[in-house]
Amino acid sequence: MNSMPSHTFRLLGISGSLRAGSHCTALLAALRELVASRAALEISTLHDVPIYNADLDGETQAEGVLRLKRAISESEGLVVISPEYNYGMPGVLKNAIDWASRPGFSSPLRGKPVLVITVSPGMFGGVRAQSQIRDALTATLARPVVRQQLAVPTIDKKLIEGRLVDPATSDLLIAGFDDLLVDIQRLRMSPAGTGG
Ligand code: FNR
Repeated sequence: MNSMPSHTFRLLGISGSLRAGSHCTALLAALRELVASRAALEISTLHDVPIYNADLDGETQAEGVLRLKRAISESEGLVVISPEYNYGMPGVLKNAIDWASRPGFSSPLRGKPVLVITVSPGMFGGVRAQSQIRDALTATLARPVVRQQLAVPTIDKKLIEGRLVDPATSDLLIAGFDDLLVDIQRLRMSPAGTGG
């Protein structure tokens, strides 16, 4: 990352799915290619993050938790792409937000701009999970990007073998990504209040 041009944004993409063939993780990789000239998007999955237990949340923490919190701290913003499970956010994503939210109100999430994207093979693009994800992020004092909800329905028809084959979806993702960069630019110019 040190060799990046200074105008390049350092972002962390978090997938809400652990599945090996996850559409969410694949979409993060496709987005990374779409924005490569402007941003470095590191992709994180949550396989190494244990179930939250406040008894384990002390001076020593699991390596997966330390890795996640370090990656969030070192990024200027997050892109969360998640499926919807039973009309809500998957447990693994909520669990990761819980770990990353500590210490409360002064965690690595505080002040961090976050673009939230949901996807689904179904008709609604996982949109019912969005308010839960945004609420949880807001509780941590992160800054979910304020924009029209970015939900991608029938993802299995739009992302084929890792390639986005639907130009309208590419345009939508880029528009959301641009909104995230605008929020990060604002913070670069006026970082007060980020707590980071
Ligand atoms: C789902 N799926 C799903 N889809 C949806 O649009 N609304 C929903 O409420 C649910 N609920 C749900 C619950 C559980 C437990 C599973 C396993 C799946 C389908 C889901 O969107 C689909 O499996 C996605 O492909 C999961 O995302 P990844 O793993 O491909 O990233």
